[in-house]
Amino acid sequence: MAAIEVHELERTYRSRKGVIRRRRTEVRALQGITFEVAAGELFGLLGPNGAGKTTTIKILTTLLLPSGGSARVLGYDPARQPGEIRRRVGHVFGGDRGLYDRLSALDNLRYFADLYRVPVREKRARIASLLELVGLTGRERERVETYSRGMRQRLHIARGLLHDPEILFLDEPTIGLDPVGAREVRETVASLRAQGKTILLTTHYMYEADELCQRIAVIAGGRFVAAGTPRELKARVLDRTVIELETFGVAEPTLERLRSVAGVASIASETREQAEVLVVQSRIGAEIVPALLLELTGTSVGKVITREPTLEDAYVELVGSA
Ligand SMILES: Nc1ncnc2c1ncn2[C@@H]1O[C@H](COP(=O)(O)OP(=O)(O)OP(=O)(O)O)[C@@H](O)[C@H]1O
Ligand SMILES: [Mg+2]
Repeated sequence: MAAIEVHELERTYRSRKGVIRRRRTEVRALQGITFEVAAGELFGLLGPNGAGKTTTIKILTTLLLPSGGSARVLGYDPARQPGEIRRRVGHVFGGDRGLYDRLSALDNLRYFADLYRVPVREKRARIASLLELVGLTGRERERVETYSRGMRQRLHIARGLLHDPEILFLDEPTIGLDPVGAREVRETVASLRAQGKTILLTTHYMYEADELCQRIAVIAGGRFVAAGTPRELKARVLDRTVIELETFGVAEPTLERLRSVAGVASIASETREQAEVLVVQSRIGAEIVPALLLELTGTSVGKVITREPTLEDAYVELVGSA
């Protein structure tokens, strides 16, 4: 049995807008999404802002009812058997609040353990092992207000695991963390994966998804786009070479000419620090560079880099064509 089964899942948000002439508005956040997560799998749900990731997680964790389709979490129906699911799943949202700042990490965990009805005789050992897992052993008596955001987020993960859930939902667990904090959270997630915990993770960092996830589903605008292992998704762009050209702004007509250079599969423009970087996917390898530079005559070009495609290139391709 799959740990999570989502079949043609739909969700429409209905709200009223306007003060004087109130109109009904509808947002079709999920328009028939299907995927499965196996037990013990670390599964990534990826997609641009507004894709429907958080909506999906809220339905699976029983915080929101679906409008159509079906879902099963550990065999239970979130709409009909929410109690069965709540007992067996944990969730952590990125940028989560809801820790008691004036209390120590230990007191926070003790408090939530009581709230989640962790049996008294298991409480102490469970808290100790969770502190170890999230790398906070030795710091547990310090007040949470003195914690870095990375430490807080790891404490949130410990909180989400207190009732020993079979599945953990992590919605953008590294959002807003500095690189070191984010790496520590990834290490925590990786050790959970090693323990065989079923995890559904969302992130906007493709590097993170590639490093952590065993399988990925990409959704956009409430619709399913693609699913597979990171390697399978990358294979879609594997015959390509990526050329990054650092420029300082390129006019649209030039961009159009570049797009029509023989061998160009796609061009995306990214702003990085002071420069505008043109990310060119080439079907003919690095041989394409002189032709590109020819079209850029008269434009100042900085660094030119040739590299293998990454999951991010595959993602941009998938979502761009969705
Ligand atoms: N409570 C709500 N009322 C109305 N519309 C909503 C509500 N919550 C979400 N939406 C809309 O539903 C769609 C999906 O939102 P959702 O939060 O699931 O996306 P997401 O993939 O989690 O995006 P992000 O990457 O920005 O977190 C968006 O268009 C959003 O504006
Ligand atoms: Mg979200």
